[in-house]
Amino acid sequence: MNQSSRQLLITGGAGFIGSNFVHYWHRHYPEGYTLVLDALTYAGNRANLAALKEQPGFQFVQGAICDADLLTQLFETGQIDTVVHFAAESHVDRSILGPSAFVQTNLVGTFTLLEAFRKHWEDQGKPEAFRFLHVSTDEVFGSLGPNDPAFSETTPYAPNSPYSASKAGSDHLVRAYFHTYGLPTLITNCSNNYGPYQFPEKLIPLMCVNILLGKPLPVYGDGQNIRDWLYVEDHCRAIATVLEQASPGETYNIGGDNQVKNIDIVEQLCDLMDSSVEGLPFQPARDLITFVTDRPGHDRRYAMNIEKIQRDFGWSPQYDFAAGLKQTVAWYLSRQDWWRPLLSPKYQTFYQALYGL
Ligand code: NAD
Ligand code: DAU
Repeated sequence: MNQSSRQLLITGGAGFIGSNFVHYWHRHYPEGYTLVLDALTYAGNRANLAALKEQPGFQFVQGAICDADLLTQLFETGQIDTVVHFAAESHVDRSILGPSAFVQTNLVGTFTLLEAFRKHWEDQGKPEAFRFLHVSTDEVFGSLGPNDPAFSETTPYAPNSPYSASKAGSDHLVRAYFHTYGLPTLITNCSNNYGPYQFPEKLIPLMCVNILLGKPLPVYGDGQNIRDWLYVEDHCRAIATVLEQASPGETYNIGGDNQVKNIDIVEQLCDLMDSSVEGLPFQPARDLITFVTDRPGHDRRYAMNIEKIQRDFGWSPQYDFAAGLKQTVAWYLSRQDWWRPLLSPKYQTFYQALYGL
């Protein structure tokens, strides 16, 4: 089946990576069809998809992946042959404050989605071209020491937070549906993304927003934790590539080949903002850096070995980190209309509970 004739159900398509993927898909396949299903939790935002409102092949439904009846109806009426599954509770700190929603959405929700799609696939005579692509994370592999080799597709799972444990469980369910029922599934495990439309609870947008507001920049522990950063558009291209070319049952690691310490990112952002924004409420922005109590169970280092996706499909990250960061800062500067309304009283309550700042 060629890509543009796929009938996609995209779960979590109003969130950060999901909405970037929907835009990516319609840019590359303007004739394509996407049906976005999103519960619009605090992290989901219709504004992320506003530009697609008039696109003929685009539809949006507000609803949850735990709603089996709704899923059955959408699979039938949308004649869906492909699921790209982003919907999740995605923030590690929230999973520590309240793990229940993570088990419900990430585990029970993924199970409900798999089960509804399996029935639909069986009703249609088990077409070979159907696909269920599950978007997962490097966090399922646990934490690396300074000299450990990067995570590969065969690294044993060792999740350390309720978030990563719930994602690990969902990965195992997806794997089991391939081996038990033959459902044509794919799993991608990706490292930290950054770019437009990321909710300002995650490191990079949080720091951008706090610098603009002159608020303290909370850095956990000693700031030496390492993440492997990838620009979100590179991730979207990797997902589209895996969808097009990978064999059912496969898993692929995706990453930026770009390991950076948290403190270095925060300092880079401070310097970027100092030099590019006039009239910041507090300068130099580095003076806002505040070391705070570490996140419990905080993984020290992530790094992805991306040789498999490079070798099989020739995919590699295209964005250079400095350029991607600059572009992201410019986006948050120009889209204050997007992020200011997200700093609602509910968000302030979460913020206070987490940081006490
Ligand atoms: P996000 O929190 O920005 O978006 C999640 C979306 O899912 C939101 O739109 C939300 O409304 C929706 N959602 C939540 N519960 C739902 C439910 N029960 N039913 C339907 N929709 C629901 O997350 P993100 O950062 O865009 O991450 C997307 C996916 O990618 C997640 O599965 C995450 O685990 C994975 N991932 C994220 C990163 C990252 O760096 N952000 C890296 C690797 C993998
Ligand atoms: O690795 C992929 C994962 O990346 C995804 O699966 C998750 O959905 C996504 O949220 C992200 O998880 P992290 O926990 O790595 O991202 P976060 O932006 O929350 O934190 C990045 C690093 O920055 C981490 O080491 C914790 C640190 N940090 C974060 C915040 C929010 C701080 O030091 N201070 C902060 O206030």
